[in-house]
Parts: sequence; structure tokens; C-alpha cells
Amino acid sequence: MATEKPAARLELVNERMLQFGGKWQYASAPESTEPVKLEKKYNLFINGKFVAPKSGRYYPTINPATEETLAEVADASDTDVDLAVRSARQAYEKYWRKLKPSERAKYIFRIARMIQERARELSILETMNGGKPIRMSRDDDIPLAAAHFFYYAGWADKLEYAFPGRNPQSLGVAGQIIPWNFPLLMAAWKIAPALACGNTVVLKPSETTPLTALELARIVQDADLPPGVVNIVTGFGATGAAIVNHPNVNKVAFTGSTEVGKIIQRAVAGTGKKLTLELGGKSANIIFNDAAIDQAVEGIINGIFYNQGHVCCAGSRLFVQEGVAEKVIRKLNDRIQTLRVGDPLDKNTDVGAINSKMQLDKITELVKAGKDEGCVPHQTRCTLPKKGFWFAPTVFTNVAMSNRIAQEEIFGPVLSVLTFRTPEEAVEKANNTPYGLAAGVWSDKGAKLFKIANKLRAGVVWGNTYNQFDPTSPFGGYKESGFGREGGVQGLLPYLSLE
Ligand code: NAI
Ligand code: MG
Repeated sequence: MATEKPAARLELVNERMLQFGGKWQYASAPESTEPVKLEKKYNLFINGKFVAPKSGRYYPTINPATEETLAEVADASDTDVDLAVRSARQAYEKYWRKLKPSERAKYIFRIARMIQERARELSILETMNGGKPIRMSRDDDIPLAAAHFFYYAGWADKLEYAFPGRNPQSLGVAGQIIPWNFPLLMAAWKIAPALACGNTVVLKPSETTPLTALELARIVQDADLPPGVVNIVTGFGATGAAIVNHPNVNKVAFTGSTEVGKIIQRAVAGTGKKLTLELGGKSANIIFNDAAIDQAVEGIINGIFYNQGHVCCAGSRLFVQEGVAEKVIRKLNDRIQTLRVGDPLDKNTDVGAINSKMQLDKITELVKAGKDEGCVPHQTRCTLPKKGFWFAPTVFTNVAMSNRIAQEEIFGPVLSVLTFRTPEEAVEKANNTPYGLAAGVWSDKGAKLFKIANKLRAGVVWGNTYNQFDPTSPFGGYKESGFGREGGVQGLLPYLSLE
């Protein structure tokens, strides 16, 4: 033992551990739900008040880890959306557009601070309504949401410096539609730059994860924002369509499926509304022979499994250079055995619940297609809870570029592994997809990272890391992954006209 290198010793320990049932046994460490005070029923947030929907309709929102109903949420009709847009228009004309930019900044800073103050409660609520591990909501989602408000608050009175000599002007009412994978963070990505640029907002959260957005509405109220500057309406696709099609909306920002993105693009064409779309992805991680393999394997795991693969830029395709393919696949297969799948509120959990039955069905269908096409699955051996929506982390080998699992967005904890010989082949294969959101490159040669990054048709390319986010960095796609950037100075552009 004494003569063994540390790495070899670690492998031996891992091997032993695998013999003893796969994981170190941790006592459960559930986060308490006590800080969350759920209402029975949530109304729409319009003109600074919570109002009952004119539609009279409510629907249940559930915890996907238990299938328990958490609350009833309003389902906004066209009339409700119209009221929200009117209130946003009025607030824009009467107040917000005229407000001194440094005053606008103060409100946005206040929202940021209140998110920080209520971070614990918001994290728990995010996990309860969305199924993601508390570790993620607590360490990533909520702190990043606050960071976006802080960052864009700082720009509010400096827009002329962001675009010198261009006379930046607000647009009016922004209609914003967001998905369920990062509910509060996506709301922050959308609302913070819109407000900083002097626009008012009508935001619709996803039907499956409305609760943190409604909590944000309370924060907006507590921060004393002028009524109507931020309106939050809940509902399904029809509510989203009513926002998109409303004649008094000047800007549409959408994050979600490519399918709905295309519908929205058609609906907006010729109306003069400004549009940004952040759609799906089939992002590639490329590991070269000279990469730090253990670090790369951790990055791959982080890139596809830690949010159940519910990440638009998830590293769902892995391209490994042939010299290290066997080693990488072996390490990946070992590593997935140590992933903890289960109660999202448990602080030890790595992989939580799938967000909805619909999403679980989609993942199940695509994994079956993978098996039918001859791809070989390796799954985390674990007992999945009986209630709720779950899928064991899955690594597919023996995958061909033409297989459905190598082409279609799965949006679940499923990784397709392919190999390559030359850098040119890696680039060609990575780019061979209708999408272009993100990519990761792993090599110990800095020059190689930059050279490959420049050839990849992806909005974000990470070098020797994956899924790193910061409000100062622009994010967005190429091709069917959409257009427009969120984050950074570039993230101001969709909310301004530059005269
Ligand atoms: P979706 O695109 O249907 O939903 C996203 C948002 O758009 C929700 O708020 C929804 O209510 C709204 N919406 C739906 N139809 C609309 C319409 N016609 N007009 C305006 N708004 C509309 O996505 P869904 O059904 O939740 O997921 C389907 C697939 O989309 C997933 O399996 C995944 O592959 C992909 N997806 C991508 C995301 C990303 O971050 N790029 C996020 C969520 C899903
Ligand atoms: Mg849909």
C-alpha cells in the first residue's frame, strides 16, 4: 500500500466502496420546510396587488418528488393578461420611464437584497416546487438570482457608458415567458435587465413551477416598487400566447422549447416587437487525450446530472478522444454509482426529481429509443422513490451520430458518449446538430482550448470546466438554440433601442 501512488490508492478505495453497495452511507440530512409559508391559493400579481383571475380558474401546483399538491394557482385568461399589460403600460408611461435612472437602480438593488435576505426560504420553495436538489437551489439558483439583480441595478444609471454615443432608450412593456428548470433565476435574468433599461414587465412563469415567481411578486411589493412596474401572471401555454400576441407589448423574451420558440417567432414577425429566444440545446463536451481526466469526469457529471439534466446547456453529448475513451468510460460508470438520487430536500442529494410527468415520459421514450437502436445503457444502481417522478442517471455507450439520443434534446439525466480521433473530427461532430447553445473543451493545452473554441458553433464554450454562470457573462445560442444574449452588457441590448 505504501508504495502505491495516491491515484491508484483512490481507485482501490473506490473499488472497495463499490463492492459495499455503491455508496458511502450517509444519514439523511433533510432541510426543514418550516421557513416556507404556503398559501392555499395564489392570485395574479397585477398593478401591485394580488387579484383573483377574471377567468375564475385555478389549477394545482405539485411537488414533483412527492406528487403532493402544494397550492392552487390562478390560470390567467386573455382578459387577465390584458389587465396586466394595461397596468404595465400605465406604470411605464406615468412613472417608470420618467424616473431618474439612479432611482430606478435603488429599487432593483432593494429587490436583490431582499432575495438575499429570504434566500433560505426561496431555496426550499424552489426545491419543493421544482424537484431540484436543495444543494443547487441554495448554492446556485438563488444566489445567482440575487447577483443578477445586483449586477443590472449597477447598469441602470450608466447606460450611456455601456453604449457610448448611441442614446439608449427603453422600449416599453416587456412580455417575458420562462420555463421550469431555473424558475427564480430565469425570472431574474428577464426582469433585472428589463427594469434597469427602464421598461416595465409582464412575466409568466412555467405552469409547473410558479411559486418562487409569486414569492418574487411579494418581494416586489415589499420593495415598494411603483404598482404595475412588475406584473406576474400564472397559467399555461395559452396565457403565454396572450402575452406574445398582445398589441401593447413592445418586447417579447422567451426561454423554453424550440417548438414554442418557432411559434412565437412566427407570431411576432411583422409586428415590430423586439424578440429574444433562448431555446434548446444538445451541447457537447470534448475530452482530448491530454486532458486532466478526473477533473474532466467531474465536469461531465456536473454538466449533465446535477440538475437532472434539466439544463438548456446540459453537456448531453460527450466526445472522447480514442486514446482515453476506455478510461473515461470506466471512470464515468464508476462515478455514476456514487451519485445520490432521491429526496431533493436532503442536503446530500446529487440528483433530484424529474420536474413533471410529461418530462419523465419524454425521457423514458428517448431512452427506450436509444436501447432499441442498439446503444448500451449504464445506469446508477439505486432504488427510486415510489411516489414522484424519477429517472436514474444513465450513460449510453455504443452511440452513433445518427441515433436519436445523439440528435434530440432529452432534457434529462442521460449522457451519450461518442469517440473521435482528430481535433477536426471532434469539431465536425460537435457542430453536427441543429442546436448551438454551449460546449466544453478539456485539454491541458491552452492554445488548443482557444483554437477549438473558435471553431465550435456554440454561444458559450467552457474550457476545462462546465456550467459556470456569472451575471457579467453573456449567454445565448446559435442556430435553433435561439438568438439574443442574456447577461453582461450584451444582455441590456434586447431591452433598449439605440438611436
Ligand atoms: P415550453 O416551451 O412549452 O414551455 C416554456 C414556457 O412557454 C412555459 O411558461 C409555457 O407555459 C410557455 N408556453 C407554452 N406554449 C406557449 C405558446 N404557444 N406561446 C407562448 N408561451 C407558451 O416547454 P415545456 O413544454 O415545458 O418543455 C418541452 C421541452 O422543451 C423540454 O422537454 C425541453 O426539451 C425543452 N425546454 C427547454 C428549456 C430551455 O431552457 N431552453 C426549458 C424548458 C424546456
Ligand atoms: Mg410545452
